[in-house]
Amino acid sequence: MGGVGKTTLTKKLYNDTHVKTHFESCAWISISQEYGVRDLLQNIINCYMVLSEEDLKKVEKMDVIQLQHKISVYLREKRYLMVLDDIWTNQKWDALQDAFPDMNNGSRVVLTTRNKDLALHADAQSQPHELGFLNEEES
Ligand SMILES: Nc1ncnc2c1ncn2[C@@H]1O[C@H](COP(=O)(O)OP(=O)(O)OP(=O)(O)O)[C@@H](O)[C@H]1O
Ligand SMILES: [Mg+2]
Repeated sequence: MGGVGKTTLTKKLYNDTHVKTHFESCAWISISQEYGVRDLLQNIINCYMVLSEEDLKKVEKMDVIQLQHKISVYLREKRYLMVLDDIWTNQKWDALQDAFPDMNNGSRVVLTTRNKDLALHADAQSQPHELGFLNEEES
């Protein structure tokens, strides 16, 4: 459910020194409902890579497949962490997932979502980590 602390917990993990040093490349994007897949992929590129003016112009002309490919090629060589915060729909995950190669090298993609079906769709092998409420004392 909303406001239960998914983003807060993920931020704590993301900023943890051990987590930071475990990964070579880390990126966090917030999946606002207003952004389309193309904008999200461009954001991901901007998070991971420092591009020259010339490369930026090339990226602006790329379509979704080309953007996915560019990210995938970049990440293939690295142990990377990608956080997709507040993703709502299966379609959005399906459209983004090809950007994230699985080289079996300890890389991780972390999703936060209110939609359990999406969590299970994205990874049918593992149970999503569900947050409960704080009790009265903790609150
Ligand atoms: N363990 C906690 N103790 C105290 N405050 C908390 C805790 N976890 C979250 N909060 C606070 O609760 C509010 C909502 O947290 P957060 O934004 O992480 O929720 P969320 O599950 O990501 O919500 P949404 O589904 O809307 O994205 C924030 O103001 C945050 O600081
Ligand atoms: Mg959140």
